[in-house]
Amino acid sequence: MAARYQISGSSSAAISACVETGIRAGDLAPGDALPAVRALAAELGVSPATVAKAYQELRQRGLVATAGRHGTRVRPRPPVATRRSALMPRPLPGTRNLSAGEPDGRLLPPLGPHLAELAAQLGVPGGYAAAAVLPELAAAARDRLAADGVPADEITVTGGALDGIERLLAAHLRPGDAVAVEDPGWANLLDLLAALGLRAIGVPVDDEGPTAPGVRAALAAGARALIVTSRAQNPTGAAVSADRAAELRTLLAGRSDLLLIEDDHAAELARVPLHPLAGATPAWAFVRSVSKPYGPDLRLAVLAGDEATVARVAGRARVGAGWVSTVLQRLVLALWRDPATADLVRGAAESYERRRDGLVDALAARGLAAHGRTGINVWVPVPDETVAVTALRDAGWSVAPGALNRIAAAPGVRITVSSLDEADLGPLADAAARAVRPAPAGFTT
Ligand SMILES: Cc1ncc(COP(=O)(O)O)c(C=O)c1O
Repeated sequence: MAARYQISGSSSAAISACVETGIRAGDLAPGDALPAVRALAAELGVSPATVAKAYQELRQRGLVATAGRHGTRVRPRPPVATRRSALMPRPLPGTRNLSAGEPDGRLLPPLGPHLAELAAQLGVPGGYAAAAVLPELAAAARDRLAADGVPADEITVTGGALDGIERLLAAHLRPGDAVAVEDPGWANLLDLLAALGLRAIGVPVDDEGPTAPGVRAALAAGARALIVTSRAQNPTGAAVSADRAAELRTLLAGRSDLLLIEDDHAAELARVPLHPLAGATPAWAFVRSVSKPYGPDLRLAVLAGDEATVARVAGRARVGAGWVSTVLQRLVLALWRDPATADLVRGAAESYERRRDGLVDALAARGLAAHGRTGINVWVPVPDETVAVTALRDAGWSVAPGALNRIAAAPGVRITVSSLDEADLGPLADAAARAVRPAPAGFTT
C-alpha cells in the first residue's frame, strides 16, 4: 500500500509537504507505511538526512509515528482535515454500533426548555467587555467540586476537557517533552499528544487507576506531566480508589517539576466517590467536562487548579479564542440548577451501571474477564483484536479495536454500552465468547 502514493520532493520541506498532501487527499491512509528513509532517499536522489528530517517534522506534528521494525506509518487520526468523511473505520451497515464511545443520546437531558427560558432572559448579547467566566457558574462549579474534595478557589472554563488539557500542556510543556498517560488510555488524548509533538509514556492501569509502579517509572523516565482519569477511565472503566489516591499522593508529593492533570469526565454519572489527587503537586489542574452527563455538544468544562496554572490557561485563552460563550455558560448553569435534570442524570447513571455491570457479569459467566467499574465502556482483553472485532462484526456487533487506545498494553476491544438494551446483553456476551478465546485476566503488560 505504501508504494502506491508517489512521494516527491528534493528538500525536506517539499517531501513532508508531499506526504501531508497525500494524507489530506486520502491517498495515504491511517496505518499506511511510508518508504524506508534510505529507499526514499535513493529514489528521490537526496541524502538520507533530508528524508529523515522530513519524517521527523511529520512526526513532531503528529502526522506519522515511527515504531521500530514497523517503520514510519501514518497515525490513526493525523491532525489534518482530510477529504475522507471519516478516519475511523465505519461500522458495517446492518451491525449494531458499540464502538463510538458516545453517551446514550436517549439519556441526555433535553436542552429545549432551558434554551427557551434563556432566550426569554438573555436581552442584549454581551460583547468583548463581558468576556469572562460567569461568576454564578464559577460559584456553582466551586461548590460542586468542593463537595467532592477538590479545592477550587481558582477556576476557569474551557471548551471541553480536551481543550482544557491542550491548554494546560501548551502552557507548561514544549515539543519533545514526555507526558505520562494511562495505557490503555483515551485515544483522543494520544492523538493530541502526537499533534503537540509530545511523547507519551504509558502507565499501566488496573481497576483502581494508574498503578504506583507505573507512575514511578514514568517519573523516572522524565515525564513532565501526568494525566489521570479520575473515574470512568476510557477504555477500562477504572476509577481511582481511596488507597490508590493515597499511594499516588505520597509518590507525587513535592514534585515541583511535574504538572498533574486530572480528568473527571464522568462527573455526575460516576456512581463511585471521587478520590482526587488535586494539590498533591504544586502545579495541578482538575478538569470536569459536562460532555458525558449533559451532552458533548455543550463543549464546556470547568478547570480548577493552582493559581499560576489557572492563570496561564485563562490568560492564554484571553489572547486567543477569548472566552467560552456566556450563552453556553448560562445553559450549563440552568442544567445544573434544574432538579428535573439532576433526576435525569441520576437515572442515566443508574442505567449505564445496570447495562455495564450486566455485560461484565454476562461475559464473566461465559469465561471472559472484562473490566468496567464505572462509565459507559467495557474493556475486554482479547488475544487478537482483529480476530475478535471481525468475528463480532460478523455476528452483527461493531466494537472498537483497542489499538487506538494502546501504547504497550495488551490487546483488547472496547464495547460502549450506550446503544445496548438489557435484552442485548446475553446475545452479545454469547457472540463475544464465540469470538474471543479466553485471555489471561488483566489488561496491563
Ligand atoms: C477520558 C475522557 N475524558 C474526557 C472526555 C470528554 O471530553 P470533552 O469534554 O472534550 O468532550 C472523554 C470523552 O470521551 C473521555 O473519554
